[in-house]
Amino acid sequence: MIGISKIAAYIPQRYVKMEDLALDRGDDPQKYLIGIGQKKMSVVGGNEDSISMALNSVRRLLDGMTQEEIAKIKLVIFATESSTDESKAGSLVLREYLGLPDNARYIELKEACYGATAGLEIAVDRVMLHPDEKVVVVASDIARYGLKSKGEVTQGAGSIAILVENKLNLAFEMISGASYYASSIPDFYRPTGESNAIVNGPLSNQTYLNFFKKVFTEFFENNSIAPCDLKLLNFHLPYTKIGIKALREIEPQISRNQYEEWERLFNSGKKLNALVGNIYTGSLYLNLLSNLYVENIKPGDLVGMYSYGSGSMGEFFVLKSTEILDLSPLRELLKSRQEVDVKSYEELYLQHSMDINQNWNSDGIRFSDFYLKEVKNGERIYQQATFD
Ligand code: HMG
Repeated sequence: MIGISKIAAYIPQRYVKMEDLALDRGDDPQKYLIGIGQKKMSVVGGNEDSISMALNSVRRLLDGMTQEEIAKIKLVIFATESSTDESKAGSLVLREYLGLPDNARYIELKEACYGATAGLEIAVDRVMLHPDEKVVVVASDIARYGLKSKGEVTQGAGSIAILVENKLNLAFEMISGASYYASSIPDFYRPTGESNAIVNGPLSNQTYLNFFKKVFTEFFENNSIAPCDLKLLNFHLPYTKIGIKALREIEPQISRNQYEEWERLFNSGKKLNALVGNIYTGSLYLNLLSNLYVENIKPGDLVGMYSYGSGSMGEFFVLKSTEILDLSPLRELLKSRQEVDVKSYEELYLQHSMDINQNWNSDGIRFSDFYLKEVKNGERIYQQATFD
């Protein structure tokens, strides 16, 4: 069987409460908590970037793998829209620090939040052709819109690493027959050199919903699977309220019972996305982990996956759960997070810089996790945190 054998996450260790952010911005907290559907937002400082977070998710992915198994990794795909380099693939840096094989291929992939899904599809095809090989897909992003901007409430940061292989005991089997749709739309983009995304909020919401309706409908027209065969739907969640809006789009196509059941499961399964925020490429896979976390998914369940990347790409595909993943490392990461106030969040936000010479300490980083220590002539140097 070909599919996902393991998923590991890294969640930054600082967060700001949405209620505090709303009050500071002169907004009603209910807008952020209910209208947007977010409770907390991951915060990173200058000492974390897309590569340091990916080092931390992939480090957890490799935990427990033998050298012989690691040697079978032949492709590492880094999916990000928070790249630190216009030229070099972030995955090459992972190779250096994590001792991944040198007789493998290392690339970086981009299409907004859709990048990791593209990577997953490439990984599955690769393993189908070369069943002895393993592929790592890592999604890593910092969602930034700007202090006091409309998008501020939908920021976040984190990384998800996925191992794809041909194995009997998988976590999720990929069911073939995905439906996908593309169109060039200026809903959200980040021109080269800009550190914040430029977004047309209403257009981005509408495009997300239009694409969902289209790919969801096409999937069931072209496959023998029916909506009632799916236990639940996982979504790319820039903010959790949009999942409810997406369900409403397809309400006329499914039975009342089905709608109510999917809505009930969505409301409990959105937990981690509401606590972390938008992590762009990893967001859909965080929703999958979140549904596992609250035990909404059991072995044998089929689950729908809606991937959306602005600009825009949409895809709907189905996974079959086969074995339950060990989520204790994720549980630990969520438990050890520290709250920061709005003033500290703003200071950390402003540390983000593309300066070619910088030094950072390990503040806010867990023991043995990686952080960005130095930027020297544009080269980024990472280090594992120790207790000094
Ligand atoms: P906004 O203008 O601040 O919010 O922008 P709003 O005025 O539309 O209000 C939001 C909701 O809160 C509304 O509910 C209000 O009624 C409600 P809705 O009508 O939508 O159901 N509300 C209240 N509820 C309770 N009590 C109150 C209250 N007041 C108002 N007192 C927006 C919101 C999400 C547009 C903005 O934050 C934004 O631009 N975010 C960034 C873009 C984004 O996330 N777009 C989502 C789709 S695009 C996507 O997913 C791709 C992406 O991940 C990027 C990528 O692919 O790389 C973003």
